[in-house]
Formats: sequence, structure tokens, C-alpha cells
Amino acid sequence: MHKALDSVLKYYEVQNNRIRVGGQFLSDIVTESGSPLYLYDLNIAGMKYRKLRDSLPDEVEIHYAIKANPHPEIVTFFKDLGCGVDVASEGELDVALRAGVAANKIGFAGPGKSPSELEAACAAGIDSLNVESEEELNQANAIAERLGMKLNIALRINPAYELVASGMRMGGGPKVFGIDEEQIPAILQKFDRWPNLNFVGFHVFAGSQNLNHQSIITALEQAFSLIEGLLPDCPSPPAMINLGGGFGIPYFATDEELDIQSVGTALQTLLQQKRSLFPQTRFVLETGRYLIGEAGLYIAKILYRKESRGEVFLVLNGGMNHQLAASGNLGQIIKKPYPIALIDRIEAPETETVNVAGPLCTPIDTFGKKVELPVSKAGDLLVVFCSGAYGYTSSPLKFLGHANPLEKVLPANQ
Ligand SMILES: Cc1ncc(COP(=O)(O)O)c(C=O)c1O
Repeated sequence: MHKALDSVLKYYEVQNNRIRVGGQFLSDIVTESGSPLYLYDLNIAGMKYRKLRDSLPDEVEIHYAIKANPHPEIVTFFKDLGCGVDVASEGELDVALRAGVAANKIGFAGPGKSPSELEAACAAGIDSLNVESEEELNQANAIAERLGMKLNIALRINPAYELVASGMRMGGGPKVFGIDEEQIPAILQKFDRWPNLNFVGFHVFAGSQNLNHQSIITALEQAFSLIEGLLPDCPSPPAMINLGGGFGIPYFATDEELDIQSVGTALQTLLQQKRSLFPQTRFVLETGRYLIGEAGLYIAKILYRKESRGEVFLVLNGGMNHQLAASGNLGQIIKKPYPIALIDRIEAPETETVNVAGPLCTPIDTFGKKVELPVSKAGDLLVVFCSGAYGYTSSPLKFLGHANPLEKVLPANQ
């Protein structure tokens, strides 16, 4: 049993063994649109947002991390639900501004912001530039001074602790991300060196793709204690603290859904305990994949079914060039398949063990080796679930010069 497949299927309707999305058979959508196709259902994105919103304390702001999926309709959708955004480049800042996200709801993090990006952030008047080094403070100050402006900055902290059980860690130990927590007091004490920077608070993002609520709660507690210890050195009380996120979704056979409700309950308790220390502070959490990952499908057609020395290979019209993460080549150490299925035959009495391959000339172009699927033939359509985040834009689309996949967004029913 593939637990992530079970988990994601609850967001989709299955009728006569065929997947339906937004009230239509998926195969009808693909017949109309073509393949390979990325399909995003905003009804599911809305459900995930609601679940997160209902789990977290009301006062905590939710920021959508645009890096997960910068499709303008998706960014607009989350903006309309009231989310702020986290951007990681001038391009993403542009997407956010075009989508109509208010500048005071934009945070900008990333270890290598260029002068042009610092200028764009300053000119837009964003809520917080999350600064990742002392040199960046110098550059940001010089640019703000030249523009005759004040730029809101938060210090991104590289904590001494790690977000345990995370798929990817951006904190703890030597990291390119953030400023080591040991260096932060000295920077705060000399903050008047940067007169064109307005200190607004802190950003801690320790890791992503975490399914263990207890380790997220521990990281939140550690973030509070860490920032509490920095308060005496702050030039002004923090107006904003971005506590990160790291909320994961099930991708693999043994993955269990994150207990987000327990994270929210623990955060509520923490806020009650610590409120007197942070009387004026807004708290932000940022997440991408939790909101959009399960709302996205990648659909490709079986071009060939071939046998080689006793093994069956299904060769698709798209592969790691379109969906790198599902091929296991984006941060996976042990290659494990994402949930995959035939879209018009979810279950069948007759199954077979197959290798699902993309069209590229490399053995790493595969969505699964020796996976069990209903018996299929050339022309059948296969879906890779959990493809809404880090799909289209995190893949080497130019590799081998195949055409880009199509993208389609199903609007949310009112
Ligand atoms: C600073 C920062 N914020 C937010 C995210 C979004 O992570 P996720 O999509 O896993 O929620 C990342 C992911 O790399 C990140 O580095």
C-alpha cells in the first residue's frame, strides 16, 4: 500500500475507477488540453488553506511561498484568501506585485540578493527584506540611502538547532542561509550603522518537508527562546517575527499526514505564554508545498510499452525534464516513487510490475522502478500526484529540448 496515494486520493473523486477533478473526468480534461500537462485544482488549494487557517491561531499570518509554484492564478488565489507572500527573487517579487499583493504583505528571503533585487525590494516598500549576512546589510543600506528611502529589514537567523526530521534543512550548522545566531547580538548592538534600514524583526526558516508535528513544535519553541534571548539587544521591539514553517505533505509509501492541528494548538499555547514579551509583534508562518502540493497533478501519456530482459518499461512523453522532484533527483537520497496511477484505471484485478520512464537519454529519468500498476498500453494516461509544488519551475525544462508541459488551472467553485 502506498500511503501517500491513499492520502492524496481523498482530494479527488474516483468514479467507475476513473479520476475526476473539478467535476470532470481527468481524461476528458487531457483530451481537450493535451499532454504532458500540469493541472492545478484551486478547490483543493482552498481546502488546504482552510485546514491550515483553521488549525493555526487566528492572529498568525499565513504567507504563501511563491517558490513552490509561481503560477499567477495561484498567487492571486492565495492573495484573495488573505495570504501574504514570501518571495525569493526579483522575478517572484514581480509576480507578487502583478498579482496585486500589497507591499506590506511581502517578505523577501534568499542568500544571494543582487543589487537590482535589493533596489526593487526597496522601491516596492516591502514588509521585510530578510537579510542573510552583514554584507547584505551594508549593500541594502547603501541602496536605500541612494534612493532616499528607508528599507524594512528582518534578520534571518541561522539557528544553532536543526529542524529534525526535515526533508531539507536550511538551519543549524554552517549554512549559506541566514546569519548564525551567535553573530546576531553584535549586529543588533551596532544597528545604528545602517541608518536607512528599519529593523522590523526576525525570520527563522529551519527546514522544509517535515511530517513530524513534534519536531516542528520543538523548532517553534526553540525559535521563541532564541528570539527572547535577543530582545535586550534589539534596536526596537520586533514588529514582525516570521517563524518559518516546514509543513510537509505525504509523498512516499510510508509517509503519514502531518498533524497540523497539533502544531496550531502548540503554537497557540506558546503565543499565550510569550505574548507579554512580544506585545506588539505580528507573527508570520510561510509555506508553499502544504498549500499547493496536493492540488497539482502531472499527467503524461504512455508512448511505448516495451520489454527488456524480463522487465516492462512504460515510456512516457514527459519525465524528469518536467517533474524533476518526482524522479527523485531533487533532494531525495533514496529514490522512492511519488504516488502514480493510471488515470482511467486506478485499480484493476490484473496488475504488473513496471518501470515508469521518461523520454530522456538518461537512466535517472524515471518516476518509479518496479512499481505495481494495473496493466497498461501505449496511449494510456498516467498521473503523478503531489506535483503542485516544485514541479514545473523546479525542473530542467530545456534538458534535451523537449517541449514544455502545458499548465492549466481549474478555478475554485464559489
Ligand atoms: C525561506 C523559505 N521559505 C519558505 C520555503 C517554502 O518551503 P515549503 O514549500 O516546503 O513550505 C522555503 C523552501 O525552501 C524557504 O527556503
